[in-house]
Amino acid sequence: MKVLVYGSGGRDHCLAECYGDSQHVEKVYLVPGNPGVLVTPKGKRGLIELVPLADFQQVADFCVENGVGLVDVGSENPLEEGLIDVLNQRGIPTVGPKQEYVRLESDRAFTDDLLKGIGVPKPEYRVFEDPGKAKEYVRNIGYQVVVKANGLAAGKGVIVCDDVPDAEDAIDKIMVQKIFGDSGNKVVVEERKYGNEISFFAYLDGEHVMPLRMFAKDYKPAFDPDDVEAIKQFGGNLNTGGTGCYCPHKLVSPWLVNRIIKEIVNPTVNEIYNHLGWTYKGVLYFGLNLDPYDNLDVFEINVRHGDPEWEVLARKLSTDLFEMGMAVWEGTLDRVRQVWNNQYYVDVIAMEGRSKASRGWNKGYPGRYGKGHRILGLDDIEKGIAVYFAGVDDNPEKGLVTYGGRVLHVVAGDSTLEGAREKAYRNIQKIVFEDHYNNGANCMRCRKTIGL
Ligand code: GLY
Repeated sequence: MKVLVYGSGGRDHCLAECYGDSQHVEKVYLVPGNPGVLVTPKGKRGLIELVPLADFQQVADFCVENGVGLVDVGSENPLEEGLIDVLNQRGIPTVGPKQEYVRLESDRAFTDDLLKGIGVPKPEYRVFEDPGKAKEYVRNIGYQVVVKANGLAAGKGVIVCDDVPDAEDAIDKIMVQKIFGDSGNKVVVEERKYGNEISFFAYLDGEHVMPLRMFAKDYKPAFDPDDVEAIKQFGGNLNTGGTGCYCPHKLVSPWLVNRIIKEIVNPTVNEIYNHLGWTYKGVLYFGLNLDPYDNLDVFEINVRHGDPEWEVLARKLSTDLFEMGMAVWEGTLDRVRQVWNNQYYVDVIAMEGRSKASRGWNKGYPGRYGKGHRILGLDDIEKGIAVYFAGVDDNPEKGLVTYGGRVLHVVAGDSTLEGAREKAYRNIQKIVFEDHYNNGANCMRCRKTIGL
């Protein structure tokens, strides 16, 4: 079979690798992908091939002309723009929800009301379209809040606030300065929760649900908690959407998995199938919190895999991804058996750090970051370590260079969490982003506490 993965980030590269591992798959097209893929073994062999296609009709034409048997769409934007609908109209099998169903992620207020309506636990929240009213609310509420852009923001649209000035500032940033564009026309102000964050995933086939019996821990803040100087410079520990990840999460247990399924996944899926009447086929991502009093709460629902959560879960999952994908399309998930290996996995993300600009300095991700830094050290990465590429580009003179803030993932596995951490850090230290304006100094940065 031939599979097409649509996307260009680390999660999409990882999806392409997993389909490439399937015994049923002879070719994976990655649209548009990124040039990092071409330096990997599957890229070099042509098992994964990058295809630049301009629009969704071209993707559909390509699938028909090349006999593509399954398309998996990794990220929320093409889903929201209706890629699945276009492909399904042409009879092409897909993994991913239709445009209408993306509302679960692109309209927080809708999903919060849905969850509240069916009694799924979630923090107290209020929705505002007027920044003045939102500020009045946070001045009166007393407890700490988080302020969230209502629409899509690449997993970054949440500002965690310590006090009222923080919350007012967050409302200004999202609703007035529009740092997330029109996604900030509305905000959700939500009670701040403490505890352990859990990223939980389920596959849906329009009829059945297959919750993954394994979950991961994402590290969203840009800096390690003790990196006081950097946090001060950036005016807070900004939410990046993910700087690293590990699995199994320290809280994974059969009874907690069962509890999450019973309290959260099943009522939500029941609402989706039986009350909304949606034939949702794809992944649901539940962003959860378990507080010190053992209460579970839903922070958010997304309509796709997590990034970087998928990069570790995929390594631990031994079930053939093509068989899972076809089961999503054919409505046969009830017949799929989940198999997880017994390793721990740690994903550390190499980010653009402080670098010299033609004039002055770039602060580095998640602030302004430099681009075009030559990536060195990839040949020294040890066997068995996975590298998934995200923000990279190809330069005619320099070869592979940095292009985004989160550049690549180094994922290591071991029989212990400490062993996986040690391998991931030993290998990421081999990576150099050569700062050409600063005598070739290394401007790669990563968090040091992933998996701790
Ligand atoms: N890891 C956060 C996200 O994928 O949205």
